[in-house]
Amino acid sequence: MSAIQNPKSKIQNPGVHRSVFAPDPLATERIGESLGRRMEPGTLVLLFGNLGAGKTTFAHGLARGLEIPTDIQSPTFALIYEHKGRIPLAHMDFYRLNAPDELDTLGIEEYLDGDGVTLIEWPEIAMDRMPESRIEIRITPEAMGRRLEFTAHGDAATLLSGWNLESDESESSTGE
Ligand SMILES: Nc1ncnc2c1ncn2[C@@H]1O[C@H](COP(=O)(O)OP(=O)(O)OP(=O)(O)O)[C@@H](O)[C@H]1O
Ligand SMILES: [Mg+2]
Repeated sequence: MSAIQNPKSKIQNPGVHRSVFAPDPLATERIGESLGRRMEPGTLVLLFGNLGAGKTTFAHGLARGLEIPTDIQSPTFALIYEHKGRIPLAHMDFYRLNAPDELDTLGIEEYLDGDGVTLIEWPEIAMDRMPESRIEIRITPEAMGRRLEFTAHGDAATLLSGWNLESDESESSTGE
């Protein structure tokens, strides 16, 4: 439909939005895991949210969905951690960067152009370098839990459009 209204934007799919409430950290992880199972080679995921929002919690789940066997660490100091899984994961955290040119030495383009999944916490400073096709996730406190909002742009939109979020949400609140 948008292709007819706006014929110039032939590669720009309209963004797909999803939103889900995660009542506790386990729910955040389960939702991340579910999204991780849907990841395809080359997917870029940007994680936005304040200190303590739950970005790394989500990343843990996503890594599990990529069948990464070990628990991942937060890359705050190393900036980039690589993991082997069903698809390799490059997990980045740009919190400690002060200026965009500090990205020059990290070689992030190599990851972005590669066949792995790239997941970036605190991506704000790098937005000028981000390809259009990506999933953006914003995590905000709500009640005692977190609101997770997903927006997918470009080809990544297909990863969100058929995603059954509700079943993951209810699954996460049933203990054993
Ligand atoms: N849905 C949720 N409900 C309540 N608490 C949550 C939820 N998801 C995660 N948390 C908790 O929030 C805290 C911070 O999580 P986490 O370390 O993942 O945040 P972060 O966004 O990576 O923070 P930072 O920017 O400081 O690295 C943890 O104690 C985690 O258990
Ligand atoms: Mg973190």
